[in-house]
Amino acid sequence: VTAGLTRVGAPDDERLRDYVRLTDIALRLRTEVAHGLFLAEGELVIGRALDTGHQPRSFLLADNRWELLADGLRAQILAAGVPVFVGAHDVLEQVTGYHVHRGSLASFHRPALRGVAEVLAGARRVVVLEEVNNHTNVGAIVRGAAALGFDALLLDPRSADPLYRRAVRVSMGAVFSLPWTRLTAWPEGLQVLRDQGFRLLALTPDEAATPLQDVVPPERLAVLLGAEGAGLTPGALAAADAGVRIPMAAGVDSLNVAAAAAVAFWGLRVPHVGGEVPAA
Ligand SMILES: C[S@@+](CC[C@H](N)C(=O)[O-])C[C@H]1O[C@@H](n2cnc3c(N)ncnc32)[C@H](O)[C@@H]1O
Repeated sequence: VTAGLTRVGAPDDERLRDYVRLTDIALRLRTEVAHGLFLAEGELVIGRALDTGHQPRSFLLADNRWELLADGLRAQILAAGVPVFVGAHDVLEQVTGYHVHRGSLASFHRPALRGVAEVLAGARRVVVLEEVNNHTNVGAIVRGAAALGFDALLLDPRSADPLYRRAVRVSMGAVFSLPWTRLTAWPEGLQVLRDQGFRLLALTPDEAATPLQDVVPPERLAVLLGAEGAGLTPGALAAADAGVRIPMAAGVDSLNVAAAAAVAFWGLRVPHVGGEVPAA
């Protein structure tokens, strides 16, 4: 075994407990926050977690994966000074419960939840999620927010964990750079945005809402997005300053929330996103 790597052969090896039953979502949601960890999967995402200063607990790689890693990532992993476990694909599959097809996992210390004031400091474009409980949607929204110049994310108490493995992967690691936190009081907690001069725009397919193309984006704004089934609750709609709709073809009920988010982010972006330099 290469110096610095630890070979594992038994799926019940206690040292692999961070990686146990990754497909058991209920178990993982209960334990990851409680144990103060999150999982990163695939070299790109692991690299981004390291690059953004997240502290690893250990790495778990399939046989042959170590040699295939980029030199820089190999050096970063060794420099982290935490165990680097390597094992047969079969062992990884028995531990995690699935075929880890990219063959690389890492467990990281979960950063403490940030304060709302810290997350909003300097932000001009904020996305707020209410009951978006699907990890793929949360990951896609985070990726879109980062790509289109939104600079903070607030979650209501019931939206999905942005650091859950699937959300992290779908966000392509953008969740490591986008400041986010959870509001505990809902929807009362939205008042903090108004106190800081944000205009709250509720994204809703409701015909009575203002069409997106008619909105003149104010200096600071927050976009509220709701659940796949029911949409924003009456409480969240009432807390908003205005409703905004993305006009759709006749007969269509709504867009998927992550698709709606991307359209809204583009329509409400700060001017310089995409290379448009404001006139001097
Ligand atoms: C699948 S939709 C929910 C549809 C639900 N029937 C409703 O009336 O809101 C999930 C979320 O995506 C956003 N959304 C979807 N389509 C939209 C549209 N055409 N205009 C504005 N927001 C939209 C809203 O934030 C909505 O809460």
